Amino acid sequence: MNKLQATKRIAKLKDLINDYRYHYHVLNESIMSEAAADSLKHELSQLEEQFPDLITPDSPTQRVAGGILPGFTEVRHRQRMLSLNDVFDRSEIEAWRARIIKILPDAKFDFFTDIKMDGLACSLIYSNGVLERGITRGDGFSGEDVTVNVRTIETVPLSLRHTNEFAKFSEGVTEVRGEIVMYKADFERANEQRAKEGLPLFANPRNTAAGTLRQLDPSLVASRKLHFRAYDILRENPADVPTNDYAYAVLAGLGFITNPMAGVFKSIDEIMTFADKWAEKRHDLEFNTDGLVIKVNDRATYERLGVVGKAPRAAVAYKYAAEQATTIVRDILVSIGRTGIATPVAVLEPVQIAGTKVQMATLHNESEIHRKDVRIGDSVIVHKAGDIIPEIVQALPQLRSGSEKVFAMPKNCPDCNHPLSKQKAVDVAWRCLNTACPSRSWKLIQHYASKEAIDIEGMGEKNVIALLDAGLIDDPADLYNIKAEQLLQLDRFADISANKLVTSIQAKRSPTLARFIYGLGIRHIGAQTAIDLANYFRSIEALMEASIDELSSVNGVGEIVAESVVEYFSEPSNKKLLNKFKNRGVWPKTISHTGGRLSGNSFVITGTLTTMSREEAAERIRLLGGTFQSSVGKDTTYLVVGEKAGSSKIVKAKELNTKVINEEQLLTIID
Ligand code: IVH
Repeated sequence: MNKLQATKRIAKLKDLINDYRYHYHVLNESIMSEAAADSLKHELSQLEEQFPDLITPDSPTQRVAGGILPGFTEVRHRQRMLSLNDVFDRSEIEAWRARIIKILPDAKFDFFTDIKMDGLACSLIYSNGVLERGITRGDGFSGEDVTVNVRTIETVPLSLRHTNEFAKFSEGVTEVRGEIVMYKADFERANEQRAKEGLPLFANPRNTAAGTLRQLDPSLVASRKLHFRAYDILRENPADVPTNDYAYAVLAGLGFITNPMAGVFKSIDEIMTFADKWAEKRHDLEFNTDGLVIKVNDRATYERLGVVGKAPRAAVAYKYAAEQATTIVRDILVSIGRTGIATPVAVLEPVQIAGTKVQMATLHNESEIHRKDVRIGDSVIVHKAGDIIPEIVQALPQLRSGSEKVFAMPKNCPDCNHPLSKQKAVDVAWRCLNTACPSRSWKLIQHYASKEAIDIEGMGEKNVIALLDAGLIDDPADLYNIKAEQLLQLDRFADISANKLVTSIQAKRSPTLARFIYGLGIRHIGAQTAIDLANYFRSIEALMEASIDELSSVNGVGEIVAESVVEYFSEPSNKKLLNKFKNRGVWPKTISHTGGRLSGNSFVITGTLTTMSREEAAERIRLLGGTFQSSVGKDTTYLVVGEKAGSSKIVKAKELNTKVINEEQLLTIID
């Protein structure tokens, strides 16, 4: 970016960040997530680093936090309230540990770790066991006297609980520090109420808690439920509290809430297990959290390590990776899926989100692009959580330069040039109906050969591409015509591998009906629905002739699935494919109506089985003439309850008087 472009971009970034701050702090609303705003601030500071003479005093990067609001008295802290430096992954925790070991090589390091609560820090001063003052963090040296307000918080003891064990803490001055938080449920309720009253909504629990504590009317504070959760206790004589672990025991004894999961960890491995567990379970907590606090447990060692800047050396905040960031849409491409659906995909300027590099994000469909008004060249907010496919949350039109381009859905398939069409006027998805489309056939053949479908060993992605490129196959039925001699012409194959692949293909000429139905790759038909359809229709011919009404009467099949099946078998290119299979002698097994010890019995499994997979159980049941279903219905004979089963199927089975059995009983039936 040249200087002129940077000047323009910086001006736009500043405006948008200021707008975000105004909405957040003044209007109590959020126009984007904090992570997205941080991402913009990061871009701004990088540009300012590159062009330092473009830094102005009003830049959001030049802001210093803190300051006392008029209406509150400023009080000096007895001991400075420090902040924590952030670390983002295991290697940064290890580097921190190595740094402190280097400073104090002889010290023994145990770590006290707690959930980092997302609220605001508060210091409570008790004099001879009685609450004297509540002070906000402020700039760390002095804060606001909010005593009248903290006194309304039920979880702030007005006097310390007296016990023999901790009696000395009720003598002299005891300072307790902790986080004031608003619970997520209370926040939701407060916003529901505000919506009813037509008031603007609060942005998030932390902001609401902070705003509430700084209200000049204590009765308002009392009406918004806040909670105090303690994490530190300070005494004139530091020897009164030798470890952080002991600090939590004292705090609990004196009547404070502390986080029960906090504890001492001896190794980084243990800390990481704790971190990973809470990264996943954090959404179940009553309050918001964005990470952990890890501190040296021994407090004398903690003090000896000292302070750098605003943070102690002896503690760090481990932050979970943010799930949102901002970046730029370089292009929008259209990807054709196995069933022909054309999905617009944004090609992004690569960006790190939640620990992975993101370069593509789905835009779902054409109407979604128009609804979000995402243009090529736009700055956008991208969201990625866990294994979920990254998604564009919103465009940031405020940052447009004027050179962005509106995306137009192509009229033809980008791969085979077949016209894209919509099945029904109401459909959002455009589709390429050409089953021979290279994008479709590649994905379809791979799906057909996959483990859950026909399970052809050796037919992975690379071999499928090689066979397609060599012109040996166009569709799954062609697989069965491949000769070892043909494979030997390709670089990838030698004698043994070529024969092996041909043998494993030929071994799958009569797949089970369920696997064959699933392998056809019909839209909306997953492996379980394929099993349900196979059990009901028992032959592919019967399924091919089924009407929407008949299909809808199958347990677990709804209207969308029924329509999709009918549509599939009425499509001429699909009829051609099925004929090709038949002519090549490839056809699924029919499930016989009669015979079989379990004929007339139907089974549903909930939870996981320990001795076999669900698919294996289904096949064994079917071989004995029984049927296997995905949900409990009037016609279900047995519900098999495995490990970690949920309750909904069991409740339904009890309602319908279905027999409920365990895995052992199932084994007796099918063995
Ligand atoms: S221990 C030097 N424990 O995080 C401060 N702090 O960035 C060490 N916080 O200002 C404090 N949960 O307000 C500690 N379980 C916890 C915490 C916690 C939230 C806040 C605290 C502090 C900030 C540090």
